[in-house]
Amino acid sequence: MPKRLTVHDIIEFKGRGEQIASLTAYDHFTAKFLDRAGIDLILVGDSMNMVVYGEETTLTLDIEQCIYHTKAVAGGVQRAMIVSDMPFMSYQPSVRDAVLNAGKLIRAGAQAVKLEGGRAAIPHIRTIVNSGIPVMGHLGMTPQSIHKFGGYKLVGKNPDEAERVIDAALALEKAGVFSIVLEKVPSGLAEEVTKKLQIPTIGIGAGSGCDGQILVVNDVLGLFDKFKPKFARKYVDLAGIIEKYAGEYVKDVKNKAFPDDSESYR
Ligand code: KIV
Repeated sequence: MPKRLTVHDIIEFKGRGEQIASLTAYDHFTAKFLDRAGIDLILVGDSMNMVVYGEETTLTLDIEQCIYHTKAVAGGVQRAMIVSDMPFMSYQPSVRDAVLNAGKLIRAGAQAVKLEGGRAAIPHIRTIVNSGIPVMGHLGMTPQSIHKFGGYKLVGKNPDEAERVIDAALALEKAGVFSIVLEKVPSGLAEEVTKKLQIPTIGIGAGSGCDGQILVVNDVLGLFDKFKPKFARKYVDLAGIIEKYAGEYVKDVKNKAFPDDSESYR
């Protein structure tokens, strides 16, 4: 059985210059196949609200849903490190909420939690880290603040915004996060942040200068028909494959071509 990667292994990737390959997963078998494919880190992301539950944003997901999906993923994985997202309003109201809900995700099988935000999130991060739970930060375009941004916009285009991202990354590192996701920031800024930090950065729409990459698995596999962000690479059209083969099944049933003798009991 392969050794389960830990927070220390993820940090060591940066030390030896090896890129961290990460994807999201929300169910047992997808997680199992990603693990077999060699994915280093699986995020049970709050993007599940959009790609699994069909909601418009991540904002209506609750901690119970994250717990169910974390359990499903944890049961399928042998090697990859599992990080679970703290959904909107599971940590913002108080540090007590933050640590109690982080603990629930760890009990469900996560090895670390991820939460969004810069300096405002530092008391929450410190309390969770002090309780023995590793935390991953998330800066740049943070989808739980969609209404503040007014859309899924690039963050860090102007010098003030870029300075805020750098300042927040350094503050998060000091607060004890083991890694930071940089979402939808210019590649030059992501590279600068990456060089300034000892801990690894994992980019999504942040160019190739990060210590690793993460994407939403549904975007990579073409299992989502709303929109494909510019930064995502679609490797296969699973939606099209499902439609094609489900259509063939429908035809076979209608024509009584399924089941045949070999698929029946005598
Ligand atoms: O929820 C999510 O999928 C994320 C990503 C970083 C992709 O937070």
